[in-house]
Amino acid sequence: MGIETSVANKEEEEFCELEKEENQILDPYPNPKGNKNSRGKKGRRRNVKKMVVVSPLQKLYDTCKEVFEVSGRGIVPSPDKIEKMKAVLDDIKPEDVGLSQEMPYFQSPASGRTPAITYLHLHECDKFSMGIFCFPPSGVIPLHNHPGMTVLSKLLFGTMHIKSYDWVVDGPRNESAVANSSEGEVKQSDIQQPQVRLAKVKIDSNFIAPCDPTILYPADGGNMHCFTAVTACAVLDVLGPPYSDPEGRHCTYYFDFPFGNFSVDGVSVSEEERESHAWLQDRGKQPEEFAIVGKLYRGPKMVDN
Ligand SMILES: [Fe+2]
Repeated sequence: MGIETSVANKEEEEFCELEKEENQILDPYPNPKGNKNSRGKKGRRRNVKKMVVVSPLQKLYDTCKEVFEVSGRGIVPSPDKIEKMKAVLDDIKPEDVGLSQEMPYFQSPASGRTPAITYLHLHECDKFSMGIFCFPPSGVIPLHNHPGMTVLSKLLFGTMHIKSYDWVVDGPRNESAVANSSEGEVKQSDIQQPQVRLAKVKIDSNFIAPCDPTILYPADGGNMHCFTAVTACAVLDVLGPPYSDPEGRHCTYYFDFPFGNFSVDGVSVSEEERESHAWLQDRGKQPEEFAIVGKLYRGPKMVDN
């Protein structure tokens, strides 16, 4: 989903920035005075091996810089780079980003209130962005797109239902549809010949951590998706390139309707394929029921090498 869009509704504007310091270097033979000759003339300085400790999050950041070095709308990293990123993401655990299921982000709200999603911003540059979405049970990120992007999502813990779509290639675009009132429920507001576009279901299933990261691409892999938390859960997202309104990568939210709800001239799918197709309609704005709050990321830091 759109980070820029999401933070528009935030209640608290606090984000993590990269630490402007060098990687922590653990020297097994520390020299507190920093004097190279402190061991005296006879005490020759031995070849000291320095161990550079690279945290899983730092590794992810470094890999993102490499994988998205050439980044832009519709530019997809090579398969080997995607595999590298997948492997790094796969190794990340909740504690590597300072999360535990007991944190308030994951608790159910008082009855009757919409469960708010918490967004922990990790990093954004013109090539990629990184962030964590924290869901209480039943929290939902509504159906939205990722224009021209490659997105990797790692479920850190919990159970998440993902439903995703791709546009039907050469399908009708933004056609005026006629509502078929006999087919399912169609709201009165949707009957006024809505502009809809045909999409095909890519994913419609529960993911239970630990599981492989999901990956979507500009034209496949489920570029439009909806996340619904079955249990409290957390998702680490990497987007390349990031959302950018000035560069035409705006986050659009959609309604999805069963194929049978509308008729569009010249469009038909076989009976057995109807279940796997849907009409998507631009909602025009961020859904009002979508509550998202930006909070300060307090986990292990990343540094810019
Ligand atoms: Fe998304």
